[in-house]
Amino acid sequence: MILRPAEPDDLQAVHDICVETATQRDLDDLDLIGYIFADPYLALVPELCFVIADDEGVAGYTVGAVDTAEFYARWRAEWTPRFADRYPKPAQETNRYESLVLSLHNPERFLPATLGGYPSHLHINLDARARRQGWGTKLLDALFDVQRQAGSPGVHLTTSTTNTRAIAFYHTLGFEVLDRPGNATVMGLRFDGSGRMEASPSRS
Ligand SMILES: CC(C)(COP(=O)(O)OP(=O)(O)OC[C@H]1O[C@@H](n2cnc3c(N)ncnc32)[C@H](O)[C@@H]1OP(=O)(O)O)[C@@H](O)C(=O)NCCC(=O)NCCS
Repeated sequence: MILRPAEPDDLQAVHDICVETATQRDLDDLDLIGYIFADPYLALVPELCFVIADDEGVAGYTVGAVDTAEFYARWRAEWTPRFADRYPKPAQETNRYESLVLSLHNPERFLPATLGGYPSHLHINLDARARRQGWGTKLLDALFDVQRQAGSPGVHLTTSTTNTRAIAFYHTLGFEVLDRPGNATVMGLRFDGSGRMEASPSRS
C-alpha cells in the first residue's frame, strides 16, 4: 500500500469508496453522496486530496478544505451549476434526498455553529481491506500538513453519532466533541494542541 496525492484519474475510485462506505444508505440515488462528499474536493481542491492504493487500486482517501466557508462559496459558484438540471433545488425538505440536494445547492448548511478556531474540515473513508493498519492516521497527517502550512489553526468534521468506531478513531488523534446537533457529532482538532475555542458567529 502506498499513500500519495490524489490524481484526476482517481475520481471514480474515490467516488465509489465514498458511496460504498456511506452509513446512511436509504437513497435510490447513492451517487448523490459522492457528488457531495467526495467529487467536489477532487474537482476544486485536488491539493487537499490524498489516497492510499495497492495492486487492487485505490483503497481509501481523505479530502478536505483549508477555509471551509471560502470552499463552500466556490462550490456554489463552480460545482452546483454542473448539477442544476439533474438535481433541481427542492422547494421543501421532507426526506433525506431533498436534504442532500439542498446541500448540493447550499453547502453552507454543513457549516457547524462551532466553526471558530476550526476553519478547515475533512472527510475520510477507507475500504475494509485497509482499515486498522494506521493508514487513516497517515492520510490525515498528510492532509493536516497541508492545512497547517496554509495557515489554518484547526480542523473540524461532522459524523453520525452512531458511527462510534469513527468517533473513537478521531479521539485517538486528539479530536474533541464540539457539538451534537440532532443525530450528528461535530468534532474539532486545534493544530497547536490548545483546547476548545468559543463558538463563532460565522455560520452564514
Ligand atoms: C474510521 C477510519 C477512517 C479509521 O481509519 P483506520 O486506518 O482504520 O484507523 P487507524 O488504523 O489509523 O487507527 C488508529 C487508532 O484509531 C482507533 N480506531 C481506529 N478504528 C477504530 C475502530 N473501528 N474502533 C475503535 N477504535 C478505532 C484505534 O485506537 C487505532 O489504533 P489501534 O489500531 O492501534 O488500536 C476507517 O476505519 C474507515 O474509513 N471506516 C469506515 C468509514 C468511516 O467511518 N469513515 C469516517 C466517516 S466520518
